[in-house]
Amino acid sequence: MTTTGVPQPSLPSRRSHVPAFEVMRITDEIARRRAAGHNVVSLCAGEPGAMPAPGTLKAAGYTGPLGTTPLREAIAGHYRAWHGVEVDPGTVAVTTGSSGAFQLVFLTLFDPGDRVALASPGYPAYRNILTALGVEVVEIPTGPETRYQPTPELLDAVVASGGPLAGLIIASPANPTGTMLSRAELQALVTWCDAQGTRLISDEIYHGITFPGAGDPDPRGVSARELSREAIVINSFSKYWGMTGWRLGWALLPESLVPAFEALASNFALSPPAPAQELALQAFAPETYAKRDAIVDDFARARTLILEAAPSLNWGQAAPSDGAFYYYSELGEAQLEQYGDSVKYAQALLEGADVAVVPGVDFDPVAGHRAVRLSYAAGERAVTEALERILKFQG
Ligand SMILES: Cc1ncc(COP(=O)(O)O)c(C=O)c1O
Repeated sequence: MTTTGVPQPSLPSRRSHVPAFEVMRITDEIARRRAAGHNVVSLCAGEPGAMPAPGTLKAAGYTGPLGTTPLREAIAGHYRAWHGVEVDPGTVAVTTGSSGAFQLVFLTLFDPGDRVALASPGYPAYRNILTALGVEVVEIPTGPETRYQPTPELLDAVVASGGPLAGLIIASPANPTGTMLSRAELQALVTWCDAQGTRLISDEIYHGITFPGAGDPDPRGVSARELSREAIVINSFSKYWGMTGWRLGWALLPESLVPAFEALASNFALSPPAPAQELALQAFAPETYAKRDAIVDDFARARTLILEAAPSLNWGQAAPSDGAFYYYSELGEAQLEQYGDSVKYAQALLEGADVAVVPGVDFDPVAGHRAVRLSYAAGERAVTEALERILKFQG
């Protein structure tokens, strides 16, 4: 009510007070600089070379709320091929990107006030979606000792200090660190969650963008579905398949959760996008896997370039870039002293050398002001050019 007595529409809700995603703001700034004639090399977005769309897609209407039967069957077949597990297509839910899956899975599982844990540094949307839903986010600070991943010991400490957890979100490979959980480490987390009645949500969006050594028994990454039928697996066509703009992902659900998830999906999204589902059927063709693996080979070369150049950058502690296409590193004392923090360093680098990197504040509100994330999704040539410019910029 105002002094005039006329009712006013309310301000944005308290739950909408979440920070925006810095990566998307920088993406906008890159577009503006390019439009103004700058030759910007972007190591900013986690966006691989796009999968071309054929001109033969049919116009389509709504599909079922959990997606088309052929696509749900094809996704189940992917788990047979990569992970040797049988998945009932009836428990596969196709969603609008993995982002859509997160919203629906969190709504299906959690009530306001529930406590859900995740590793920090980590992907910011988990934290911000949970916050918007009134869920209490329990950040677990991680570092090189645990390869930036949660462990049963860290979880025990969180429960001892704050009470039980309704959920745990993990990502392997992770964003921004790229680190992966081994089969034994993932098994230990599954066992811990089973014993505590905590729901495990495994973000496997970077599966397949991995750089295994010879003889690695799990070259694509281990799926939580291999170890538990109660875990929820979330994945997407955005990264390995390069279909970011098509907005298509999926969740593997425990059977008991399918009806509740489906009811929510039918209200929130009605159905996932139909043309994208048609295109996605081609993702599982042998020739598509071969093409995408060739792109992962380019990421591998770009990764080697960064790892080899790392000592000459004179930065600080970096996370092992096991997978995804990210290199997350603390800046060195010299850069921190000169620029103050990684936000100012990244801005100066963009303005002074037309190289875009992401300051760590999105991923870690506590220590991220000392770190930057480089995405090598742009491939070998872009990374070569960017590294030359960074070295020249730093002098
Ligand atoms: C770890 C992780 N999960 C999920 C997503 C969301 O991707 P999408 O909604 O395109 O599937 C991203 C995007 O960068 C990510 O890095």
